[in-house]
Amino acid sequence: MTRPPLPAFYDDRDASFAELWRLLAEGAALGRSGFHLPALATLGTDRAPRLRTVVLREADPETGTLRFHCDRRSDKAAEIAVNPACALMAYDAAAKTQIRVEGHATLHTDDAVAEAAWTGSRAMSRVCYGAEPGPGTTLPAGDAYTMPDETAAATVGRPHFAAVLLRAERLEFLYLDRRGHRRAAWSRDASGWCGTWLAP
Ligand SMILES: Cc1cc2nc3c(=O)[nH]c(=O)nc-3n(C[C@H](O)[C@H](O)[C@H](O)COP(=O)(O)O)c2cc1C
Repeated sequence: MTRPPLPAFYDDRDASFAELWRLLAEGAALGRSGFHLPALATLGTDRAPRLRTVVLREADPETGTLRFHCDRRSDKAAEIAVNPACALMAYDAAAKTQIRVEGHATLHTDDAVAEAAWTGSRAMSRVCYGAEPGPGTTLPAGDAYTMPDETAAATVGRPHFAAVLLRAERLEFLYLDRRGHRRAAWSRDASGWCGTWLAP
């Protein structure tokens, strides 16, 4: 059986770095990408690890920054405010690639970043931020909460909305192939990104 040719980035670390950012940008744009719904890890205020799915909204290779959105009332927002260290991970089966990101997150609630993110959000996404009570509140029954209609959501959800920018400080790329996996990592210092191959 003939195997497909190896990708151009296979033994090229700079090309692997470019592929990592291409896949993240594609993940932000395409719902079917495995990188659209990464797992985000924070450190709980009790110092236990916390993990949940978020929608990747933007990946900017120029600044090395990822953006996602959350409710200001959520545990993750409180955790990031106390300790901004975060990690994010996703795997795309079609690309046979896992990407891991570590860095520090900033919460944007009342600035231009938040405003642009809110303006760019669809009505169906804004509705969640108008839910009462806020995420994680104990309920007496499963349906004991309210959501605004899409028209009201344009305003009532805004005070609860936060855009989060995760500035990557370490990146890791793992490409799976039976002829030999390829794993590479990059760390950011004052002069930019510095990469190395790693045993897979
Ligand atoms: C497919 C999917 C997408 C989600 N996207 C987001 C998101 O973009 N932002 C967010 O805050 N929560 C999102 N959630 C919900 C979180 O995974 C989590 O359940 C919720 O935000 C509470 O997390 P916390 O208590 O750690 O703050 C998503 C869940 C799923 C299943």
